[in-house]
Amino acid sequence: MEQNKDINQFDIPLAKRTYLKNSNSILFKKLLIFSPFLLLIFSMATLRLIKNLDAGPLRNLILQVDANYDQRVLGHLPYDEINKEKLVLIEPNIEVHIDMRDSLLKMREEAKKDGIYLVFLSGYRSINLQKDIFYTLKSRRNQEAAERARVSAPPGYSEHSTGFAIDIGDATQRETDFETQFENTQAFKWLIKNAAKFHFKLSFHKDNKYIDYEPWHWRYEGSIDALKIFERSNRKL
Ligand code: DAL
Ligand code: ZN
Repeated sequence: MEQNKDINQFDIPLAKRTYLKNSNSILFKKLLIFSPFLLLIFSMATLRLIKNLDAGPLRNLILQVDANYDQRVLGHLPYDEINKEKLVLIEPNIEVHIDMRDSLLKMREEAKKDGIYLVFLSGYRSINLQKDIFYTLKSRRNQEAAERARVSAPPGYSEHSTGFAIDIGDATQRETDFETQFENTQAFKWLIKNAAKFHFKLSFHKDNKYIDYEPWHWRYEGSIDALKIFERSNRKL
């Protein structure tokens, strides 16, 4: 009996050791279950941190991977040329996609009712014309491709080739055509307030890293075809 008591005493630490072992294994199991979530949270936080850095090789690498992923060239996305049957002439030298014609003309009419006179400067441009604009001007102005691409898309990469882009000016201030100062015109202020009602959206904003701000360049997103075409462009880098 005395001996049994001794044995029981020895049992206590033994049982404790067993208990501790179980607790470790539960903890381990829990860690195992939650490890994918922890890893995900850690990766997301790291990516966010890197993306928010102003400069640095890692950030550049990420931007480069993103850019390659969506096939941008010098900051411009590729666009197929519109099927010619879908083009309509709305005034001399201005052709646009038939799907956006009514909305565009309606927008000009409504602006006129408010005393604002919109003028259309450039609509559809063929890939060949874009080739001329890009390479001829680049060469004439002794510009490198990246520098030229800040103001003109390389051929095959312009929204204008889709027929869904329109450059707009103010008929009362033609000196601001294709100039940043267009943003100070009544026409631009009216567009900022009203263009979305007609499904138009500004394409090149001030925060674009590769392409200069173009307050005159608007694209149409009022049909499924147009939305599909500009889907990638609406995803933020
Ligand atoms: N000016 C714009 C970027 C274009 O050429 O499409
Ligand atoms: Zn344009």
